[in-house]
Amino acid sequence: MEIVIVPTPKDGGRIAADIVCGAMENGAKMLGLATGSSPLHTYQELIRRHRESGVSFAAMSAYLLDEYVSLTSDQPQSYAHTIRAELVDHIDIDPARVFSPDGGAEDPNEAARRYDATIAENGPIDVQILGIGLNGHIGFNEPSSSLASRTRVKTLTGRTRADNARFFTESAEVPHHVITQGLGTISDARHLVLVADGARKASAVRAAVEGPVSAFCPASVLQLHPHVTVIVDEAAADELELAEFYRYTTEHKPASQGY
Ligand code: GLP
Repeated sequence: MEIVIVPTPKDGGRIAADIVCGAMENGAKMLGLATGSSPLHTYQELIRRHRESGVSFAAMSAYLLDEYVSLTSDQPQSYAHTIRAELVDHIDIDPARVFSPDGGAEDPNEAARRYDATIAENGPIDVQILGIGLNGHIGFNEPSSSLASRTRVKTLTGRTRADNARFFTESAEVPHHVITQGLGTISDARHLVLVADGARKASAVRAAVEGPVSAFCPASVLQLHPHVTVIVDEAAADELELAEFYRYTTEHKPASQGY
């Protein structure tokens, strides 16, 4: 696992964009996308490179991590709608090749199984962008999620519903249930890139990176993956015990070694 501490979230977005663009240059065809505020700098940087440097996403397909049960993709709070507004509508990826779990499906359990099967058939995902929740969740895998879990329906904690209430007119509107890629599904991706910024994320980052591997902190599953980059700003790195060492390794990275 490589932990990169950056001065600002914008710098983090540049590094994550470097990883995505580098993978595309090396033939990557599948991106894994996350919603939430953490990846916004990454998406803004990708949009800028598309506009100003002609970076093309025309050959790519993309898969979202998760979706609210009961929201259809045309509803503004759905993650399918959110990712269109934040990224897809501003680059040249074919929107028909941007996939997300079907939150509006009559049978969400079946929709979850179908989504997992689609990723397995077409995968692996080359680069998976991840944020992290305050309780250490990734995707919508709340504490107690099996580290081997596949895409399925989950119940949100009150804390996650409260954190995400800002996107809804009233907090009571936040759905209780979601379809999320499982931790096993996420771990099938070739390269996991977690971005986090701000002091609020510091303890979740610490638990994910330096704590025990445990279903109590779902993001700790990253420690079992062979190719992980964690990009954090100074505030989110504040509780890392080995912060100095991570800075040192970044500074002394062998020239031959990319992300
Ligand atoms: C939601 C999403 C996660 C995201 C998390 C953190 O719960 N399902 O994918 O990582 O929020 O969001 P933010 O980046 O806005 O802090």
